[in-house]
Amino acid sequence: MLKAFFMGLSQNQLLNDAAKKYGLKFGAQTVVAGTNVDETIQSIKELNAYGISCTVDNLGEFVRDKAQAIRAKEQIIAVIEAIHEDGVDAHISLKPSQLGLDIDYPFCLDNVREIVSVASNYNLFINFDMEDHARLQPSFDLVDELSKEFDNIGTVIQAYFFRAEQDLGKYRNYRLRIVKGAYKEPAEVAYQTKKEIDQNYIRLIEWHLLNGKFTSIATHDHHVIQHVQQFVKDHHIPIEKFEFQMLYGFRKDMQLQLASEGYNFCTYVPFGDDWYGYFMRRLAERPQNLNLVMKQVFNK
Ligand code: FDA
Repeated sequence: MLKAFFMGLSQNQLLNDAAKKYGLKFGAQTVVAGTNVDETIQSIKELNAYGISCTVDNLGEFVRDKAQAIRAKEQIIAVIEAIHEDGVDAHISLKPSQLGLDIDYPFCLDNVREIVSVASNYNLFINFDMEDHARLQPSFDLVDELSKEFDNIGTVIQAYFFRAEQDLGKYRNYRLRIVKGAYKEPAEVAYQTKKEIDQNYIRLIEWHLLNGKFTSIATHDHHVIQHVQQFVKDHHIPIEKFEFQMLYGFRKDMQLQLASEGYNFCTYVPFGDDWYGYFMRRLAERPQNLNLVMKQVFNK
């Protein structure tokens, strides 16, 4: 019930607008690295000092206004320039719906092409995050289109989709992030139970570790992480072929532990003033995250 409650809140436009206006509140600062580029670069430097690499996400999604999508593009390019100038260990994660996917496909394609092109000049990787089912195929279409011109891109496979295995096969030569999937999807297209999703998740990770280019295992689930640790050992999969990823602010001890054990580790670093939807989805995923928030709110 709490999951549905927070999912509902995540789509509330009024609260979203208020959140933007009043800055990071309700403990969101524990899971959002900053509201501007300078604060974000500082957070990246702190993580880099522990041998942790970062993927930076300019918060925002489901944009319906062209000017807003263009502002988002400019902000992402500003981060790319800052990453290059500061020489920090980071790349970019972007969401097509922030860059105009819901407005007009060619407009979105132009925006993402510009981002990928600037990043390509600096040899910087761009990951296309995957959103809900309605946006899945158009997002893969963007990846396909830009792959004709650039090789600095990769994407995400969401294990809850029935089609995930087929997509994994198609994109095996890409650097892929494999996740369980964060959105509420209908039973016609996606597994609904935790057991089925977890089983498919493990299956896809194992397949890509054995057959794919590079695997980012993005999860906070210690059962999955332990399974992967054993699997790579048993199959002699070199450490350079994969990394673990977690979201900024979650399971910090485990992030540091994995990095200190010599695993490649990458933290997903969200920043910006459009933090509200992201934050509510994290609460929907795991209502226990409220504990984290409460500590932040009351430990002043
Ligand atoms: P899950 O939430 O299933 O938890 C499993 C178990 O792990 C829990 O029962 C608990 O024991 C433990 N656990 C989990 N979180 C914990 C915590 N904070 N503290 C202590 N124990 C905890 N989704 C998407 O659709 N598109 C995308 O592009 C991305 N991108 C992405 C990037 C990165 C870096 C991450 C980590 C995740 C995503 N996701 C995503 C989100 C992903 O699909 C998924 O919704 C969340 O990661 C939640 O699932 P988990 O695998 O983390 O574990």
